[in-house]
Amino acid sequence: MEASIALSRVGLAGLAVMGQNLALNIAEKGFPISVYNRTVSKVDETIHRAHNEGTFPLTGHYTPRDFVLSIQRPRSVIILVKAGAPVDQTIASLSEYMEPGDCIIDGGNEWYQNTERRIHEVNDKGILYLGMGVSGGEEGARHGPSLMPGGSFEAYNNITDILQKVAAQVEDGPCVTYIGEGGSGNFVKMVHNGIEYGDMQLISEAYDVLKNVGGLSNAELAEIFTEWNKGELESFLIEITSDIFRVRDEHGDGDLVDKILDKTGMKGTGKWTVQQAAELSVAAPTIAASLDCRYLSGLKEERESAAEVLKEAGLKEEVGTVKSGIDKKRLIDDVRQALYASKICSYAQGMNLLRAKSNEKGWNLNLGELARIWKGGCIIRAVFLDRIKKAYQRNPNLASLVVDPEFAREMVQRQSAWRRVVGLAISAGISTPGMCASLAYFDTYRRARLPANLVQAQRDLFGAHTYERVDRPGSFHTEWTKLARKSNSGVGAFN
Ligand SMILES: *[C@@H]1O[C@H](CO)[C@@H](O)[C@H](O)[C@H]1NC(C)=O
Ligand SMILES: *[C@@H]1O[C@H](CO)[C@@H](O)[C@H](O)[C@H]1NC(C)=O
Repeated sequence: MEASIALSRVGLAGLAVMGQNLALNIAEKGFPISVYNRTVSKVDETIHRAHNEGTFPLTGHYTPRDFVLSIQRPRSVIILVKAGAPVDQTIASLSEYMEPGDCIIDGGNEWYQNTERRIHEVNDKGILYLGMGVSGGEEGARHGPSLMPGGSFEAYNNITDILQKVAAQVEDGPCVTYIGEGGSGNFVKMVHNGIEYGDMQLISEAYDVLKNVGGLSNAELAEIFTEWNKGELESFLIEITSDIFRVRDEHGDGDLVDKILDKTGMKGTGKWTVQQAAELSVAAPTIAASLDCRYLSGLKEERESAAEVLKEAGLKEEVGTVKSGIDKKRLIDDVRQALYASKICSYAQGMNLLRAKSNEKGWNLNLGELARIWKGGCIIRAVFLDRIKKAYQRNPNLASLVVDPEFAREMVQRQSAWRRVVGLAISAGISTPGMCASLAYFDTYRRARLPANLVQAQRDLFGAHTYERVDRPGSFHTEWTKLARKSNSGVGAFN
């Protein structure tokens, strides 16, 4: 009986919700799939769902051996388990039954260097390996995620048909592409998450300003975000934000959003992004600001007592004192523009980080193509990504999104609104670290001359680090202190 069952096209191990959903998605697209989990109930649960949600070609297996042997060769086995040690354990238990030419595809949020280590480890057995970023949460996994596979190109070729059907579909194709060698797929997913941190922070700042400077109600905010989602800001995050403002509290009066503790969780990809930016000497201040804000948000008790101490010290409570005579309509329009301009700077940082890593590792990342596969399925999906794709198509060597002619024009058009919002927030004592970081990034990047000359002079004075000059080549050192004393005694301006 068993022997007559046709082999599956692909396997998936690790049946938490993400794994179950991805397996059902693959099966629904018509690819016979074997599923496995150490915990028997997870396998049964998945089979049960496959029966309930349709007549899907999905078979459950209860041992690593049965599971692996149920897949046609060369085998493609997707694993979706917690990053780190569980991945190594899963690889160890499955690879025992796998053969040369088979492939393991890790779909977790893995640190890229772990993927590179595993590529070498399984290579000894002739097994191929892909580290594949999967974005879109549980919904995305079930109905169409954005997929970022990196590693063995041969292995990618052998499952391209599956990945292209399973991924989210946008007008210019499925949201999947071969990212590059090594751990590039994980790295790109990591930066995607860093950008996601930035987007969420910027949206929360827009909310803060509209609510606490403009005095807008949740009902008004819901309307505004719905409106914004019809224009240049159209995106998944703006859309879900408008939904959030519409949910009443089931356990009491008022809206649920106001009852949520202001302490943000995180899982580590944002931190890795900022660490990598520092490693590569790439400025990513908006993403860093969003990470810092999560850290500060975690200090809820400290913040509460700081509020007390500073109130006693005489600080007036600004929050709630909506600026009198504020032109609401204008504020809303300004905040929309500030959000958009801030976002461009944040994406410029993320893209430049990707390029720096690509150069270091020789990954040959195609930034326009990355923007394209983020247009659907993933958390940062947005209409605006099509513009980023086009910017890199126009010029693959674009130094920064900020200087793409189209984005440059948009930033200049939004400049005054952006500055008004940040200025208003600062004077009202409402922190907007993401918007401020983006604006400072823009202002620093666009200025042909910065005060870095003074820093160079200081470094040369105390450490003889030398400096270059604007008017002649070479490196120079000056006896600053001696000359300063001499000219001070000579001129005697302050004597
Ligand atoms: C199976 O399920 C358990 C519990 O849900 C989980 O911890 C484990 O990593 C899963 N994966 C595999 C491959 O067994
Ligand atoms: C990929 O698929 C082709 C055709 O099915 C097969 O000949 C080849 O060996 C496969 N390669 C790997 C590495 O899976």
